[in-house]
Amino acid sequence: MYKIEELGFELPELPFAYNALEPYMDEETMKIHHSKHHKAYADKLKGVAEKNGFSSQKPLDLIKNINSLPKEAQKGVRNFGGGHINHSFFWTVLKKGISHDNLEVIRAIEKKFESYEKFVEQFTNASNTFFGSGWTWLVVNANKELEIINTANQDSPYSNNQKPILCLDLWEHAYYILYKWNRAEYVKNWWNIVNWEKVNEYYLEAMRE
Ligand SMILES: [Fe+2]
Repeated sequence: MYKIEELGFELPELPFAYNALEPYMDEETMKIHHSKHHKAYADKLKGVAEKNGFSSQKPLDLIKNINSLPKEAQKGVRNFGGGHINHSFFWTVLKKGISHDNLEVIRAIEKKFESYEKFVEQFTNASNTFFGSGWTWLVVNANKELEIINTANQDSPYSNNQKPILCLDLWEHAYYILYKWNRAEYVKNWWNIVNWEKVNEYYLEAMRE
């Protein structure tokens, strides 16, 4: 599987088949989400990078250092770079049938949020009460603590010195074909396709850095 820090401006291959997350996420949504929406972010970021002479840099570095980029490039990097990086990250934390038992990240979650169930409740609540397009994240913050946050549009936690370990796409394009208006149902079902093994890997990495 690709590493976020090594990504270039090309669309990364989805680490699973388009129908692998059925019935919780349908094949048609996955196809459009990855090959149209994500690809558009990557292509547009490439355009911004070429225009501003950033083509030799890594997209993740652009997102991390967004505030030191020239003002005229920041909006494009925030929207398209965020879109590219956030989606690339999202695909890696999706997989069907992964147990959350016996993982260090779950011990840390239990310590921070009391129990796995309480964590799920808080994360779900953050998603359900978020207005508009954006994301819900579990991050390791600058104090090395777990924290649930939302970001609007394609803003990325990487720009705020936070290390994401799990995320959920709340844009309508992520669920509308299958769930229509019912975002809460999408959020509820999404827990069946969290790749906890990858989340655990990201957690251990973030705590080591
Ligand atoms: Fe999306």
